Amino acid sequence: MTEKTKIIIIGRDETTRVILKDYVNEIEDAGVSAEFVECGHALEYAKQNECLIVIDISDDEQKSVEFISEINLQKKDAQIIAISNKTSTENIIKIMRAGAKEFITKPVTKTQFINTVTELSNYEKSNSGDNSCKIISTFSNKGGIGKTSIAVNLAVEIAEMTKEKTALIDLNLQLGDVSTFLDLTPAFDVCYVVNNLANIDKTNITNALTRYKNTSLYIAADPINIENSKEITVEQIKSLILELKKTFSYIIIDVGTNIDAKTITVLDMSDLILLTAIVNLPAIRNIQRCMNLFKKLNYPPEKIKLVLNRYMENEEIKTSDIEDVVHRKVFWKIPNNYLTMMSAINKGVPVNVVNPEANISVNFREFASKVIDYLITQNITANKQNGYML
Ligand SMILES: Nc1ncnc2c1ncn2[C@@H]1O[C@H](COP(=O)(O)OP(=O)(O)OP(=O)(O)O)[C@@H](O)[C@H]1O
Ligand SMILES: [Mg+2]
Repeated sequence: MTEKTKIIIIGRDETTRVILKDYVNEIEDAGVSAEFVECGHALEYAKQNECLIVIDISDDEQKSVEFISEINLQKKDAQIIAISNKTSTENIIKIMRAGAKEFITKPVTKTQFINTVTELSNYEKSNSGDNSCKIISTFSNKGGIGKTSIAVNLAVEIAEMTKEKTALIDLNLQLGDVSTFLDLTPAFDVCYVVNNLANIDKTNITNALTRYKNTSLYIAADPINIENSKEITVEQIKSLILELKKTFSYIIIDVGTNIDAKTITVLDMSDLILLTAIVNLPAIRNIQRCMNLFKKLNYPPEKIKLVLNRYMENEEIKTSDIEDVVHRKVFWKIPNNYLTMMSAINKGVPVNVVNPEANISVNFREFASKVIDYLITQNITANKQNGYML
């Protein structure tokens, strides 16, 4: 016998609560386990109980968004349906960004509500919730373009911005330098973690990674011994990522430059590939080659985003020239700021610690925000296509 889905209903408007309870009564495998007028009063109950939360945010949006963020911070797989009479895309993004899994516009119809609850609870049962994790890879088949700088600074900003568990994996198995960029002396490296995956306490996999200061960012560092790195198999990398997906909301991977089976496995598993180039002809030719490869691999266009690093205004080659050649829009440009970047690397800190006001620090904050919003928008689109979000 499958367990009934317990539902909490939260909202100031009594009529809406009554309607929602009525709808829940019609779902065979679900029941209302608690009802709250104020989200503040629901917090402890929601944290301590396995339940699907339905929250009407129309009357107190600010507090409701804080509540959703707080629950999501505590429980990665929190199943939250937000209901509102405000339906602008901006509003939906804000709510989804806080951690709601679904958004329903008021007035809520019975079919729509029942479908959403059923889909969400079935999804949770069959997926153990690990699909909400997003994997972002920084990639270029050319060395020295800035992949590690981007992976590190983006990961720091995403963790800071979302406060959600974020993993940064260095897959440059022979020449990695994420730990140097963040001045870490990891207790375990990627080799140790993959070789001991079977023995690691899966409920606390964060212990096998290195926490970056007091943040929600955890690092799987590059192998200490080059010889060990050769022993890591494609299957091991795949298992590591699948395991991390259960705990982390975001996984950022600094992928190696070689196009081999390990790289392709990681790119296959990624939700977003940040294909990185600098503005010169050889780099642009390489981008074309990568695009051709991705086409052969049948990657959907929305999975690949073009990032120009070390960008300078008044470049001889214009952004539009690149876009014409590659047939893709540039997703993001990171300014050239050698002094700040070098100082950050030499000190082993992200650029925002060297100077939070530097153009490159501001740029990375905005970049992280754009990446998060993009992934959320993609989720909304996918859910709409699946037909369970209006
Ligand atoms: N936006 C930037 N402005 C100025 N310098 C930069 C910028 N991004 C990266 N660099 C510099 O470029 C160099 C290479 O960067 P990084 O190590 O991140 O590249 P990579 O693609 O990871 O290289 P590899 O292929 O060796 O792993 C570093 O010295 C870094 O300081
Ligand atoms: Mg690198």
